[in-house]
Amino acid sequence: MNKNNAKIKFYSGEDIPLELHKVRVVQKLHLVPIERRLAALHEGGFNTFRLSTLDVFLDMLTDSGTNAMSDKQVAAMMQADDAYAGSQSFARLQKAAEDVLKKKYLLPVHQGRAAENILAIAYIKEKGDLIPMNYHFTTALAHITQYGGRIVELLYDEAYNISSQHPFKGNMNIEKLDAVIKETGAAHIPFIRMEASTNLIGGQPFSIQNLRDVRKIADKYGVRLVLDASLLGENAYLVIQREPEFANATMAEVIATMTGLADIVYFSARKLSSSRGGGICTNDLAISRELEAFVPLFEGFLTYGGISVREIEAMAVGLYETLDESMICQSPQYIAYLVNELVAKGVPMVTPPGVLGAHVDAMRVCAHIPQTQYPAGALAAAFYLISGVRGMERGSVSNQRDEDGNETYADMELLRLAVPRRVFTLSQIKYVADRMTWLYENRNLIGGLKFVYEPPVLRFFMGGLAPVSDWPEKLIAKFKKDFGDSL
Ligand SMILES: Cc1ncc(COP(=O)(O)O)c(C=O)c1O
Repeated sequence: MNKNNAKIKFYSGEDIPLELHKVRVVQKLHLVPIERRLAALHEGGFNTFRLSTLDVFLDMLTDSGTNAMSDKQVAAMMQADDAYAGSQSFARLQKAAEDVLKKKYLLPVHQGRAAENILAIAYIKEKGDLIPMNYHFTTALAHITQYGGRIVELLYDEAYNISSQHPFKGNMNIEKLDAVIKETGAAHIPFIRMEASTNLIGGQPFSIQNLRDVRKIADKYGVRLVLDASLLGENAYLVIQREPEFANATMAEVIATMTGLADIVYFSARKLSSSRGGGICTNDLAISRELEAFVPLFEGFLTYGGISVREIEAMAVGLYETLDESMICQSPQYIAYLVNELVAKGVPMVTPPGVLGAHVDAMRVCAHIPQTQYPAGALAAAFYLISGVRGMERGSVSNQRDEDGNETYADMELLRLAVPRRVFTLSQIKYVADRMTWLYENRNLIGGLKFVYEPPVLRFFMGGLAPVSDWPEKLIAKFKKDFGDSL
């Protein structure tokens, strides 16, 4: 695969990302009036997960399963081999996993969290077993705690400094990792989990040097190293951009170096390969055998794992396309554009720009809203109300309660505006920046939220909230004053 990371310059000097693809299939969007958006919020419990896409203009909820697929992926779906066992579609996927991720054994699962379920059930042997990680992801944490495990997050301090410019905020704190394993005893550490492009701290990468250091500690204590590769392509892209040793490396080389350091690699194909599905892979036959028994139990036979064969074909092609830097760079470049535009307007953002989405610092935008009233959830609702753009709360609503049922407040209260691969145009991104700037200037009108329905597990998905006052009406009144008849 050619290395293609040269930045295309404009004669005007403008610093804007240029799309290296063309649009061939389009989908109509709906920008409904602000009164309808308020009604939709009430119907959906002020939770953006519960909005209908008929009420959403730009869907920046997530990149999961929403990246644009390539013409080659769609074409491959037509040649799927629909067999329960021994499907040729799966053989093609296995070959792709071997070529791209350099792992011989592949266990298919229906999506990333199914891999987390299998790893937790297979390796958490005793209540209190501890899984060190750079940072948790919601579903990883839920599965670990469900089987009696605990986690410890081991980032360096700069990761929690939202406006720090550190290039690798996802790095694992090596000294703390060593100390935690020594203190706990390797027998009670089922595995170490490293997450590529650490999602919940703003899509921030780790460096390969850091992963090498984690590997050394894993070897020192004989503990397995598990890599969550859901956002591996983007982490690899940022390694090329930011880690001098890899400035001239190809995506294939960087990805192989990262996966080569892990005993087990698992992924959500909804992210990694712009398709649907997931997988667990390893080069260790004993590990593969340990885990494989759970696949037919929870997922499906070992040659489909609960995934449609058409999606398996799309996954295989998508994995190869992950090596194409000109494809992977599109979303991070749009994110950098959006973050830089907003920072220039004074909006507090997670920096440096990461991957997956642009992350607004709700703790600072809504400094007047206490964490007990969910500032990031409130900002997500307010932004949808005034723009029709659906983002995702990544703060205390996304946290789970502790064993005693107490709230655990998030380290960061973020509104994530996801930028799926090759989905939006630059004028849409400019609209997002424009409306967020307006909301920031009117931030004092945003009020808090309270739970009115709180599910016991992963409450952020289906939970219902309500505004603590009539702040949405006041925000609408100001919007109408400034924008008149504009939607
Ligand atoms: C880093 C990370 N790990 C795991 C998952 C879970 O994957 P899935 O949504 O396919 O279950 C996600 C999903 O967003 C993720 O971002």
